Amino acid sequence: MLFDVITIFPGMFEALRFGVVGKALERGLIELRAVDLRDFTFDKHRTTDDRPYGGGDGMVMKVEPVAAALAALAGGPSARKILLTPQGRPFDQALAAELAEQGRLILVCGRYEGVDERIRSYVDDELSLGDFVLSGGEVAAMALIEAVARLCPGVLGAAGAAGADSFSGSLLEHPHYTRPPEFEGRRVPPVLVSGDHAAVARWRREQSLRRTLERRPDLLDQAELGPADVEFLAAHGWGPPGRRRDHGD
Ligand SMILES: C[S@@+](CC[C@H](N)C(=O)[O-])C[C@H]1O[C@@H](n2cnc3c(N)ncnc32)[C@H](O)[C@@H]1O
Repeated sequence: MLFDVITIFPGMFEALRFGVVGKALERGLIELRAVDLRDFTFDKHRTTDDRPYGGGDGMVMKVEPVAAALAALAGGPSARKILLTPQGRPFDQALAAELAEQGRLILVCGRYEGVDERIRSYVDDELSLGDFVLSGGEVAAMALIEAVARLCPGVLGAAGAAGADSFSGSLLEHPHYTRPPEFEGRRVPPVLVSGDHAAVARWRREQSLRRTLERRPDLLDQAELGPADVEFLAAHGWGPPGRRRDHGD
């Protein structure tokens, strides 16, 4: 997977040279190129922004350098071009999985008041990290790269390790414990040290269902649930769509 990022702060992407993504980069499983938008400017000041038409506060990123950078990246493997913007489609795990199937992504990072509206004709998608406003697209792009990269083949050591992560199958993941078995009076659930693998699997599934019901019941509408799951959830106050009761009723 090749990630190309168009940004005025290419140095920020050095932060990805750590941890899982850093290892994947070292091993050549993924490639990252941070492209300096200023290399595609047309004046001696290397200007990437200008005052907004119509007046008002703040500056707007100029369309020409971004379009020129996208044109310069047009060769090579075909790419999905994504503008990071708080006004975009919400980015989630399902979308991360979809993007991990692509060979290449080009991410455009805005700054200031955002990019001139005409850039929309030059990208395939506009994605948002959530209902909040960052000062720039770089942190959003890094988060997207982290989420997508860990789903690329070979990036996570243990095969299928991402398969149990929260949001896979539309459920939150079960809780985790490690040594010591007791910490300040708080004990690890006995089933986890029982050696009974079937009981551990059942406990984890039920914890996952219970957590999702308590914290993100909205996810359950899309979850892949078996009859035992539905029975467990029903016993905890959940009903199938159409006759759902609020949790805790
Ligand atoms: C200060 S924001 C611009 C916000 C814009 N004026 C608005 O209200 O929609 C500057 C840049 O940060 C990035 N950004 C901010 N919040 C984001 C979010 N929630 N998701 C993705 N990118 C975001 C975008 O690239 C955006 O162009």
